[in-house]
Amino acid sequence: MPTLTIDGRTVTVRDGATILDAARAAAIEVPTLCWYPKLPVVGSCRLCLVSVDGAPKLQAACATPATDGMTVATESADAVTNRRSVLALLLERYPVQPLTARLDAARDTGHHLNEFERYLQRYGVRPGPAAGRELPLRGGDTRPGDPMIRHDMSTCILCTRCVRACADIQQVGVLDVAWRGQHAEIVVGGDGDPDHASCTWCGECVRVCPTGAIHEVLPLERFTQDQIDAPEKVVRSVCPYCGVGCQLDLHVRDNSVMRVTSPWIEDDTPNIGSTCVKGRFGYDFTLHRDRLARPLIRRGWVKRDGRWVYEGPGGADRRGGPWRTMTQEGAQPKASAPARSVGKKLRDLPVVERITQDLRDRAATPADWYAPFREATWDEALELAAQELTRIHRGHGPAAMAVFQSAKCTNEENYLLQRLFRAAFGTNNVDHCTRLCHSTSVSAMGDALATAAASGSMREIEDACDVIFIAGANTTETHPVFGAAIKRAHARGAQLIVADPRRTELAGRADIHLQMQPGTDVALFNAMLHHILALGLEDRDFIARRTTGFDAVRQAVEAYTPERAAAITGVSADLIRRAAERYARGPNTSTLWAMGLTQHLAGHDMVASLLNLILATGMIGRWGAAMLPVRGQNNVQGASDMGGIPFVYPDYQPVGDLAVRAKFAAAWGVAPEALSTTPGLKVTEMAREGSPVRALFIMGENPIISDPDIAHAEAWFASVEFLAVQDLFLTETARYADVVLPGASFAEKTGTFANTERRIQLAHKAIEPPGQARADWEILVDLSNRVGLPTAFRSPSDVMEEIRRVAPAWAGVSYPRLEGGGLQYPVPEDGHPGTAFLFEERFPTSDGRAVFHAIEFAAKGELPDEEYPFVMGTGRQLYHWHTGTMSRRSKGLDAREPTATVEINPADAADLAIRDGDIVRITSRRNSMLISARISDRVARRQVFVPFHFREAAANLLTSPVLEPHAKMAALKVCAVRIDRPD
Ligand code: SF4
Ligand code: SF4
Ligand code: FES
Repeated sequence: MPTLTIDGRTVTVRDGATILDAARAAAIEVPTLCWYPKLPVVGSCRLCLVSVDGAPKLQAACATPATDGMTVATESADAVTNRRSVLALLLERYPVQPLTARLDAARDTGHHLNEFERYLQRYGVRPGPAAGRELPLRGGDTRPGDPMIRHDMSTCILCTRCVRACADIQQVGVLDVAWRGQHAEIVVGGDGDPDHASCTWCGECVRVCPTGAIHEVLPLERFTQDQIDAPEKVVRSVCPYCGVGCQLDLHVRDNSVMRVTSPWIEDDTPNIGSTCVKGRFGYDFTLHRDRLARPLIRRGWVKRDGRWVYEGPGGADRRGGPWRTMTQEGAQPKASAPARSVGKKLRDLPVVERITQDLRDRAATPADWYAPFREATWDEALELAAQELTRIHRGHGPAAMAVFQSAKCTNEENYLLQRLFRAAFGTNNVDHCTRLCHSTSVSAMGDALATAAASGSMREIEDACDVIFIAGANTTETHPVFGAAIKRAHARGAQLIVADPRRTELAGRADIHLQMQPGTDVALFNAMLHHILALGLEDRDFIARRTTGFDAVRQAVEAYTPERAAAITGVSADLIRRAAERYARGPNTSTLWAMGLTQHLAGHDMVASLLNLILATGMIGRWGAAMLPVRGQNNVQGASDMGGIPFVYPDYQPVGDLAVRAKFAAAWGVAPEALSTTPGLKVTEMAREGSPVRALFIMGENPIISDPDIAHAEAWFASVEFLAVQDLFLTETARYADVVLPGASFAEKTGTFANTERRIQLAHKAIEPPGQARADWEILVDLSNRVGLPTAFRSPSDVMEEIRRVAPAWAGVSYPRLEGGGLQYPVPEDGHPGTAFLFEERFPTSDGRAVFHAIEFAAKGELPDEEYPFVMGTGRQLYHWHTGTMSRRSKGLDAREPTATVEINPADAADLAIRDGDIVRITSRRNSMLISARISDRVARRQVFVPFHFREAAANLLTSPVLEPHAKMAALKVCAVRIDRPD
């Protein structure tokens, strides 16, 4: 390891380090422009040149290796002279104004400067007069009309950071340097259209640009550049969308989020400096005019003699309104979706969509939805909620009570809500959207491993695994920052195998794409294991030491020859063999899956057979061999960890265990008998015909859009005895409520979230909620006390103190320890560093061994037939999230994907004479709706894909309510449909 002297300081660095690395290690700032951490070094700007004793000329600090005994002067006279001339040269093509004014303002008032301007200030370099310059201002692609990112290439200094960040970090390559010499400029793809260049609007280019030549436009709609440059405060938070859990810095002014940036690339965060389009540009829903600012009470509820009584209309009108049902919405005529390549410009949208001039109006809450409600005080709303919950509990017992928790709310809020329903009402009818997400993973992993969380970390996929096997996960759209990490791993040489009926972006890049028929995964995985055993590639030592039950699996997979599986799956036997060999040879194979695997009638079996593959090859329990069920929502992991599941208390402690019950009863100040030992109903059992539930409390979920077979769900919600909804907006579900409680968005409260790799992260409150809206944890504390459950927490960190006392895996978690990168649980005691990967020595089963389960393939679910010849799958898109309540109210996101579409294979579209943008009717055995066609070869023939974000064409109108037997998961990935042209 070389030791050198820099500016008189002695520093020792690792072999291979550069002079710049050494200077940074010694806390000496050498100016750089083309260099950026983690990007390939190009050494082109020459700003970092330093003097090295004995060297005949200045050396580029970013590109020159540090050597033992070297003596470096970073601010020698020669180095400074060089920097001044480099900066002066760059200014030769730079606009004089507003630069001069900004530099003056910075000198006089401390005005914020960008990176380039700071160097100008530091070295006293000023732009000369514009007149007499030999070269014109620089040009380049400007992205006119783009709702999120624009270019002002006159201020580009050609450092090429944006080009390298797009290519190397995001692995996309939208930007390039066109032309040469004095004509060189940054261009967007081949024709200036970012859509054609596969841009994902992640904003990585905005982040790395040192001059602001590439900049975001949303903040400029509300603030001046000066205001943007000088936020009142910058607050660390966590992205409200997906389970990657990117940390975000919220720039605040006038009690609003002015812009969002990502933490420094070298900070220890899950996103290592990146975000996707949703995290960086999808924050303005917090400001949307639809935000609920006061509690609402359904008209008809009046207070008589100190009690609330309902005197409104009864029967079908009791809970209805003047709105269209979801079925009626689906049948409404629609405008065509704009062609993908012009989806970004308002002026290119169909006329019908343009009339209001506000893109968000389409997704806004219609005025008539408010008609059945009146605004109320918090006292009224909580008094009514407490009265009715207590009355129904007294009259009908715990079975009549139920709660939907929220995978969007914090751990503390989820803890408080299940505590309220379990302790005050003695019910375990406590569940959340994990039921429709990874519940089959939880049941299969519970059987095999006695765990429900990922074994490893996202970082090890990028850094340490040799083979990445992805089953049913469209990671680059649903978890984009993790998707980019997977692409980087692939670029460094990791093999990529994707099992997916759709040709997703990763499937397109994969070394092997197993494009099987939907629902045939068990046959595929069994055949892979069959071939692995045939070649003797299983890990016999791991099987012998760490598992039980293998012989039954060996026997079960014997019949699944690759040829037989090929007949079932449609994947060639040869490809199955290649995938199996590659998987087993690793040496480190990581396995990822998501809802493409879990949302099937055989979802449990599919995950169980995949676990057999993992265990038989020993691909778990070491760094680089991760098992990652990729979690959907930003806190679906935490909502589960906090007991938002009908059969476990927080930290997965069974409700039927009397010692566990005693512990929670003591913590919550109730008698043990007040807590039920009977597992409760699951989400998919609560809101359906025949359910005993009479009082339902929903926090931050919108089941009318997200649950299967909407028409029946809507009928149930219209008839429930009492419904309270706590949310940011009057959602499709909230419009049926008796009481609506306005909660706070992620930016408006402090609390913790757990991401897909078990990382607990702390988000700080940045702004106040609108009007009288309150942080959800405050509402729940208030309601707990009103229903008679003494609850004295004064802050979210107070709640965390109780959580750590009852949840062993969280015992070492405290707010001060979560600052920075957070902690991956288990964190069993104070000072414990957290756990990056699990199961190195043993599994959490009673004997420490994982358990194999023999699984047979059976064709389950709706099969296509002559009348319904297509298989429809549902899922998410890059620009939207879940039921669209947040993303469709975010201007930039909505502009990118303004309308619902059904993806149809080009050959099928040709057969049906359907063109891109045509309105088609899609019909299942349950319902029918109109939707715009998008012709795409991402779907195979006879398969279609419908995102579930759009209420005007809600995919779940069509899906089947039949449930998977183990976890009560809905089969959202397989639904037989017919496609027609409407009359
Ligand atoms: S646009 Fe910005 S990041 Fe890209 S080359 Fe120009 S100055 Fe550098
Ligand atoms: S990858 Fe997920 S967590 Fe990260 S910014 Fe995008 S949506 Fe947010
Ligand atoms: S930063 Fe070293 S040459 Fe540009």
